[in-house]
Amino acid sequence: MCGIVGYIGPQDATPLILNGLQRLEYRGYDSAGIAVLQKGEIAIRRDVGKLNNLMQLVQQEPLNGRIGIGHTRWATHGQPSSRNAHPHISANGRTVVVHNGIVENFRALRDELEAEGVRFQSDTDTEVIVHLVQREISCGKNVTEATQAAVKLLRGAHAIVVLSADEPDRLVAVRIGNAGGVALGIGEGEMFIASDIPAILEHTRRMIFLESRQMATLTRDAYHIQTLDGEPVDAEVHTISWDPVSAARGEYRHFMQKEIQEQARSLTDTIRGRVDFQRGVVTLPDLTLTPDEAKRLKRIVTVACGTSAYSGLVGKFIIEEIARIPVEVDYGSEYRYRDPIIDEDCAVLAITQSGETVDTLAAMEEARDKGAKLWSIVNAVGSQAMRVSDGFVTMQAGPEIGVASTKAFTTSIADQYLIALYLAQQRGLLTPDGPDMCAHIDDLAHLPDLVGTVLGREQAIEDLAAELYQYTNFLYLGRGINYPIALEGALKLKEISYIHAEGYPAGEMKHGPIALIDEHMPVLAICLRDAVYDKMLSQVEQAKSRGGIVIAVATDGDTRIAEKADHVIYVPDCPPLLSPIVSVIPLQMLAYHIAVWRGADVDQPRNLAKSVTVE
Ligand code: F6R
Repeated sequence: MCGIVGYIGPQDATPLILNGLQRLEYRGYDSAGIAVLQKGEIAIRRDVGKLNNLMQLVQQEPLNGRIGIGHTRWATHGQPSSRNAHPHISANGRTVVVHNGIVENFRALRDELEAEGVRFQSDTDTEVIVHLVQREISCGKNVTEATQAAVKLLRGAHAIVVLSADEPDRLVAVRIGNAGGVALGIGEGEMFIASDIPAILEHTRRMIFLESRQMATLTRDAYHIQTLDGEPVDAEVHTISWDPVSAARGEYRHFMQKEIQEQARSLTDTIRGRVDFQRGVVTLPDLTLTPDEAKRLKRIVTVACGTSAYSGLVGKFIIEEIARIPVEVDYGSEYRYRDPIIDEDCAVLAITQSGETVDTLAAMEEARDKGAKLWSIVNAVGSQAMRVSDGFVTMQAGPEIGVASTKAFTTSIADQYLIALYLAQQRGLLTPDGPDMCAHIDDLAHLPDLVGTVLGREQAIEDLAAELYQYTNFLYLGRGINYPIALEGALKLKEISYIHAEGYPAGEMKHGPIALIDEHMPVLAICLRDAVYDKMLSQVEQAKSRGGIVIAVATDGDTRIAEKADHVIYVPDCPPLLSPIVSVIPLQMLAYHIAVWRGADVDQPRNLAKSVTVE
């Protein structure tokens, strides 16, 4: 939450930082601000609301400098307002700071600084940081030493960037804990800092990711990384393979629409390279799992939040059926609030698009402390989740910018399918090139085509959205492996259109929720021709007989459902274990178009941010 950008180099820093902030706006959009060093003085522009307001302000009052920092805010302490917007500046106007995180002891630090005569200009916790750094500078420390001393006084998790007018040739960045990433971009005679890769991807692919309790001092040509205790760090430089074009919205109206439409391609990228179609083998070297360990494995515990947790629920069906290993799925935000039972024959699998979700990271830590093998499925290469794992599988979804997760959901399910095949292969349940393995691989090979077919039907979904967008409550029903899709469909609708929607296991309807159904309640039922088809059909009948408006997601050619439901969304026939990847797509598109019809801000829904780095 909150996006940070920093630049030092020969270019005009302002457009570069604003452009970077634009790509990070999904991390928070309560306010935005920028500071550059202009003729030896720090010049700041800040405004409440979306980045556009700041951009207009900068147009009216231009800035000019070669070094600067910017911030887009998701408010924690202090109302969204321009006085609470970052960057925050010291009383003498010489030091400026942007920050992502929460200063847990800010009250005590503020009292201490106020007792020393410091006058605060905002209600934020962040402002204490700039005064603490300035206090150290005033005692004769350079900006690196001053930052190092100041941040040691902070409790909580933080990502911080400091610029001092007294040392106009450097930026200092710090990471403590899991408040969000700090990526350092290494250019030719220029350096970049960003909370997330897409902000600086068009300038460089060479990046370093700070670990917790590390800090970096950047000049135009060099970087120096050390721990907070002053030990030099020889950090690994990653080369990011993401395509900068895929981080741009292009012709699409919203990132969400673009990302929905990218799913055939992203699934191809996820499968490609992991499946040897000739030899009928799945290879996942980054999982670092020996055949012996695979045989010993007794249980998998998946930890994740939100959409990623629903992906885990789908994965449970897939892994249990293919690899015959029991899987439990738990919310990252709940996992550590009990005493989870873990042993060394248990693997904990974290699923996280951003790799930064603080609750998921905390669950991972808990599992690690209890001796579990730690795996992750991540999209953001180099993220914290990936770095702390013993093994990982990347989603290969490319940058996901829309706040509502779409392609990360489907690619992470595909990853779990690959993990299931890999485990089954290692445990001797599937023989490479054997008929069962070949059938699975064949199913995977056809998946992007099936997805492409559904994506081609967007117009029909848009038309349906026009009929439904004025309803204020929706019920989503699914059963078996498509029950998590009911949860995910409802989540997509509520988060971007602000319509109340509930996902429910269809069989539980008669135990309560059926009382909700009347002619004002659209009921979306996932009713594919699979093992639970007849059961779902009878749920549809029950909803109809109570006056509900039924929208069914059904298999191409199913005429029975057409007689019962008010609207049918058809999807191609697909293998049951892969059907959630296909059936979720019309639900993503429906949520998207309903939100557009309602005039909602699809890519930046209210109160939400893409990376949830606070508890
Ligand atoms: C919903 C959504 C969130 C995320 C959740 C976890 O559309 O995007 O529910 O899925 O915040 O995020 P990651 O996967 O980054 O850990």
